[in-house]
Amino acid sequence: MYLKKLKLINFRNYQQLDLIFHPKINVFIGDNAQGKTNILEAIYLTSTGKSFRTNRDRELIKMDKDKAYILVEGEKRYTSVSVELKLEENKKKQIKVNGITLTKNTDLLNNIHVVVFSPEDLKLVKEGPVERRRFMDMEISNIRPRYCHCLGQYNHVLMQRNNLLKKIHHDRKYIATLDVWDEKLVELGTILILERLKFIHRLNTLSRLLHRKITDSKENLEIKYIASVKDIAEEERISQSFHRELKKMLEVDICRGTTTIGPHRDDLVFYVNGIDIRVFGSQGQQRTSALSLKLAEIELVKAETGEYPVLLLDDVMSELDMKRQMFLIKSLRDIQTFITTTDMSLLDSIRLGEENIFYIEKASVKKKNENIS
Ligand SMILES: Nc1ncnc2c1ncn2[C@@H]1O[C@H](COP(=O)(O)OP(=O)(O)O)[C@@H](O)[C@H]1O
Ligand SMILES: [Mg+2]
Repeated sequence: MYLKKLKLINFRNYQQLDLIFHPKINVFIGDNAQGKTNILEAIYLTSTGKSFRTNRDRELIKMDKDKAYILVEGEKRYTSVSVELKLEENKKKQIKVNGITLTKNTDLLNNIHVVVFSPEDLKLVKEGPVERRRFMDMEISNIRPRYCHCLGQYNHVLMQRNNLLKKIHHDRKYIATLDVWDEKLVELGTILILERLKFIHRLNTLSRLLHRKITDSKENLEIKYIASVKDIAEEERISQSFHRELKKMLEVDICRGTTTIGPHRDDLVFYVNGIDIRVFGSQGQQRTSALSLKLAEIELVKAETGEYPVLLLDDVMSELDMKRQMFLIKSLRDIQTFITTTDMSLLDSIRLGEENIFYIEKASVKKKNENIS
C-alpha cells in the first residue's frame, strides 16, 4: 500500500500542513527540531491510533491550541482508505475511517500498516526486556488486532491481581478472591504467549534468511523466546504450567505485591552463530540483527495482509554504514518509505530526484521549486 496525502492542523509544531507524497521514497531533510519526526509520528498515529513517542495525547496538540487534526489518504491494492483523527484536550480521541466514526479505537488497526525503524530499534538487542516486550506487543498488534485487545485485558487483570496481593499482605482473608483473578490471568496470558511464540517462530525464519544475506552468509541469527512460564512446549501445557508456577510463587508475590510469572516478565534473546549477542556481540552485530529483524517484520506484514506496509525510517540511515544503507535501500524497492535525516550527503548515496525530497525548516515544508505550505 502507499499513502498519497497528509493533512495536519495544529499537530505538534504544525499549524497547517498539506503534503502530497511520492509513491516510493520520501525524504524529509532538515536540521534538528524542525518537525521531521513529527510528520512520521502523524503517519504512525493513523495506523495504530497511538504515537511511537508518547502516551500523552496532549503533547501531540500544538502548544497554544486545544485541538488537533490529522488526515491521511492512501491506496491499497483493491481500495482507497482515508483515516482522520481528532485530538481534543481532555477528551477521548475521535477516529474516522473512510468518513465513518469508529466506536472502538482498536478497530483502526488493519487499515494502514506501518513499520517504524528508529535509532531506539537499533538498540533493541542490548536494551532492557521492557523494550523487547514492547517490540513484540506493537508488532503483533499491528497484524493481529485481537492480540491488542487481549493485551489490554491482561494488563487490567494483572493490575487487579497486584492490588489484591498488596491487600492480602495486610489481611490474609482476601486470599479467597485470588483464584478468580488467577484464572483470568492464565487464560489471557496463555493466548499472549501462544501468539508471541507463533510470531517469533515466523520472524525467526524470515530474519535468519535476511541476516545471512546482509552478512554474506557469515552469520546465523536466531531469536529465542524466554518465558517465565516453564513449560511452553505444547499449547495445553502452557496454562497448566502457568497455574502451577503462580501457585508456587504465591508467597513471594504477596510479599512483593507483584506478579512474577506471566508474559509481562518474558524476554527475547538474540544469538549469532550460537552466541548471545546482547552480552557478547559487537555493536555492528547488534545493529545488523536489528536491521534483519525490521526487514523480516516488513515481510511478515506482507504475508499476513497481502500488502507491503509503509516504512518509516526515523534518523536511522546515518546510523548505518554504507553497506547496510545500500542493502536497506535495495530491499525497499516495492515499499513506500519515509526517511528523515539531517544529513544531505545521504541524498547522493541513494540517488534521489527532487520529487522525492521535502525540505523542512521550522514547521514549514518546501519542495525545491514550489512552496507547499
Ligand atoms: N505540542 C507541540 N506544540 C508545538 N511545538 C511542538 C510540540 N511538540 C513538539 N514541538 C516542537 O517540535 C519540534 C521537534 O520536532 P521533531 O519532528 O521531533 O524534530 P526533528 O526535525 O528533529 O525530527 C521542536 O521544535 C518542538 O519544540
Ligand atoms: Mg527527529
